[in-house]
Order: sequence, then structure tokens, then C-alpha cells
Amino acid sequence: MSRADERSRQHWGSRLGVVLAVAGSAVGLGNFLRFPGLAAKYGGGVFLIPYFVAILLIGIPICWVEWAIGRRGGRAGFNSAPGILRSVTGWRNGHFLGVLAVLVPFIVYMYYVYIEAWCMAYAWSYATGQLSLGGEPDAYARFFETLVGTEANGSVTNLQSPVLIALIASIVLNLALIYRGLTRGIEAFCSVAMPVLIVCAVLVLIRVLTLGTPNPELPQQNVLNGLGFMWNPKLADGQSLFDMLANPEIWLQATGQVFFSVSIGFGIIISYSSYLRSDDDIVLSGLSSASTNEFCELCLGGLITIPAAFIFLGPAPVEKVGGSTFGLGFYTLPVVFQHMPLGAFFGFLWFFLLFLAAVTSSISMLQPVLAFLEEGMRLTRARAVALLGFVSTAGTGLVVYYSRNLLALDAMDFWIGQVGIFLLATTLVVVFSWVLGTERGIAEIRRGALLELPPGFAFVIKYVSPTYLLVIFGLFLVENASTYATQLVEQREAGIAVGFVLVIASLLTYFIHKAGRRWTQEERP
Ligand code: ALA
Repeated sequence: MSRADERSRQHWGSRLGVVLAVAGSAVGLGNFLRFPGLAAKYGGGVFLIPYFVAILLIGIPICWVEWAIGRRGGRAGFNSAPGILRSVTGWRNGHFLGVLAVLVPFIVYMYYVYIEAWCMAYAWSYATGQLSLGGEPDAYARFFETLVGTEANGSVTNLQSPVLIALIASIVLNLALIYRGLTRGIEAFCSVAMPVLIVCAVLVLIRVLTLGTPNPELPQQNVLNGLGFMWNPKLADGQSLFDMLANPEIWLQATGQVFFSVSIGFGIIISYSSYLRSDDDIVLSGLSSASTNEFCELCLGGLITIPAAFIFLGPAPVEKVGGSTFGLGFYTLPVVFQHMPLGAFFGFLWFFLLFLAAVTSSISMLQPVLAFLEEGMRLTRARAVALLGFVSTAGTGLVVYYSRNLLALDAMDFWIGQVGIFLLATTLVVVFSWVLGTERGIAEIRRGALLELPPGFAFVIKYVSPTYLLVIFGLFLVENASTYATQLVEQREAGIAVGFVLVIASLLTYFIHKAGRRWTQEERP
């Protein structure tokens, strides 16, 4: 039996199923918490300019590239990035290009699942009436700090602590879903969770848009002004639009947001698309999942959080937490729900939808690792899930234990969730355009396509996207690398977290090397 025959067993159940699974991976905390915070911080409508440039030059093109590389590798019988990249490049050592594509989702999962647990704990606290702390904003900040243990390391160790119970439940749910497999686990869950979370978000949105002017003594704090506060281009004092756009930071943040939100450069889409059939469309499917993500980001995430906070609290608290993902989501919004009629119900809906959005993303981070353990290390599904659960829980445990100021989480997010993603996305674009070649690559994308590629795609993917990525990555390092490098030395939590990442990266490289040797032997006649 050839590798392709042997691997032909797992496929997505339907086109809608794969679109919902990829959209589920994309729609997550980034859409509902990270995006509104960044948009509010960088001038509302002004932020949309670099954001749309990044979507057009990076988001959608790289999304198609990942779908194409994955489906091509899947046709050769591989579902894990090392195998896929070895087969697509045709290089004997091409599997090493897949190290980051397994490492990035694995490490991001380790801290993402902790944030997922916060959402579950908040939803539970609303459902059981424990989150009515009065209108005092500091009470919510204290609730959050105690829940996640930002004050001191080791403060979240009591097994009865709500966040640990929520964490254990989230880990078990994630592992159970991937154990059930592609169609019965991931696809089935996303097919239910995606519509449910969108309905919950629409209900919260309707509530926000019908708030009118809740406090007649503050007539300027109304819905229209709330929407204007979010979306009118706001120029910083003494700055023109040009000055604001000349600041590299806004481009870095917008591009980083597109990566995080569309789940590109995570190693997820190449693994998911390897389960497509050879002639399944990828142009329309890729665009549909990216569009679903944008709908959730702009029309739901972008219209709920900041306008609601403005209507009840005015501009000051929003400006204070602007750009802080956790500040906006976990301290400011609960104050808003406190003021809102039926606030506890809407608070529950909000954190429940965040939880669902997080689960559909976190399972997508586990699948690429599971695929490697099964394919590269020849483990059975049960053993692979057990090993994956053990190692990822150790990483999550480290994030939970070293909780002071969330430094361990922050260090992992910077080195892997930002630097790693940039490097991986650049690798994939270069493999597509310069190793596979744009001609063959585009023929691959067009295979079975239900939609034409836009004119100029070849030029964009060969020249514009890599140049844009390298420039943005260079700027990103200049802006941030020294701060984070210093943090590694000065903050023990950051050093330990990155040390752990290096150990995992080394082990993974070793096992990928062994898998490559076995694949070479299998290829010999
Ligand atoms: N794309 C996922 C999110 O936005 C990771 O949260």
C-alpha cells in the first residue's frame, strides 16, 4: 500500500464542514478581544487602513498558499507539516522546514487554553451569580487578578480554584475532541459551535445597538457616539493621518493582528487542508473561511466591546485599557454588564461565546501536533493524545504556576506567537513562490477551484508578500527584540518559559529528524 493509499482514510466530511473548521480555527479571542482593543488604541478608522492592506497583501494570499501546500502534501500521503514540506519541496531534508509548523501551534495552545479557561470561569461565574460585584471597576480588576494569579507566582495552585477546575475541563474537552478524530471530533464540534457562537454574538450585538442613551444625564454617551468613537478616524493630538500612518507600530500591530486572527503562519491551515481530497476547491473555501473570520472580527467584535464600554463608561476607561486585550475583556466589560439591563445574562452569553470561539481555535492547534505524532512517530491515536496531553499540560502548568504579571505567558506569546508566526509564514511563502514555483503553485491552487484567482496574484505572492513580510518583521524586531531579550535575563518567569520552549523545540527536531530518516528508507525501492 503506498503512503497516499495508506493515508487516504481521513478526509473532511463536507465542504461546509471544512470551511467551518478553518473558520473556527480563525475566529477566536483575537476577533473579540484583541482586535477591538488595538483598533481603539490606534485611531479607530485609521487602524483599518493598514489592517486592510495586511488582509489583501498577506492575509488572503498566504491563506491560499497554506491551503495549496497542505492539499498537495496530503495528496502525497502526509498530514503533518514536516512530511508535507518534505514532499512539496522535494528536498531530502525538507522535513526540517516543518519544525516551526509543529512547534508554533503546540506552544500557542499551552497558553491559549489557559485564557480559554478564564472565559469558562467567567461564564460560570455569571451563570451562578458570582460576578455581581457592584459598579466599582477595581472590584473587577481584583477579581481577574485573583482568578488568574497575576500578583505572585504559585498563587493558583488550589485544585478547588475556579480557574483550575475550568482549565482541567477545557483540557479534557480539547483532548476528547481531537481523540474523536477529524470528522467526529473537530468537524462535528465546529459545525455546532460556530453557528451557536455567532447567534450568541448577534444577540449581544442587538442588545448593545438597542441601548439608546441609557443615562439621560449623559446624553453624549449614546449608541451612535459609541460607534463613532470606535470607527471614526481619530487623529492623535497635532498629528495628521499621514503622520499616524508613518508610524511603523501601527503597521506592525495591524499585520500581527491579521496573522493571529486569520490563523496564518500557525501551521494549522496546512495540516487541515491536507485532509482535503485532491480536487476539492480551495479558492472559494479559503476565501469563505477568511470572510467568516472578518465578519466576526469587524461586524461582531468591532461593534460590541468598545461601543458598549463607551456608552456606559465614556471614553476614559476605554482609552485607559485600549490595546490591552485582557483589560478590555476581563475588567472593563464586566463593569459594562453590571450597568446593562439583564447584564448577568448578557455577561454569560458573552463569555460563553468567547469560550466556544477559543475551543474551536485551540483544537485546531492540537491537530497539527497530533498528526505529527501519529505520522512521524507512528503512535496510535490513543498514545498520541496521551503524550500530547501530558506535554502540553506540563507547558500550561508552567504558565499557570509562573503567573506573576503573566510574564511566562507573555514571553511565550512574543517568541512563538509573534516571532515564530512571522518566520513560519515567510518560510511558507518562500516555499510556495520560490521552491515549488509560482507557476506550479498557482496551478495547484486552481485545481478544482470554484472561483477565479484575482489578477496579479502571482506578482503579489512572489514579490510583494515576501518583501512586505521581511520589512515588517525587520521593523518588529527593531521595535521589540531588545525589550524581550532583556526580559529573558531579568525576569525569571520569562527565562524559564523560553527555556521550556527550547527543550520542546529540540525534542521535536530530533523526532522530526528520525521521521525523515524513516521516510527516506521507505522511499528506497
Ligand atoms: N485565530 C485565533 C484567534 O483569533 C487564534 O484567537
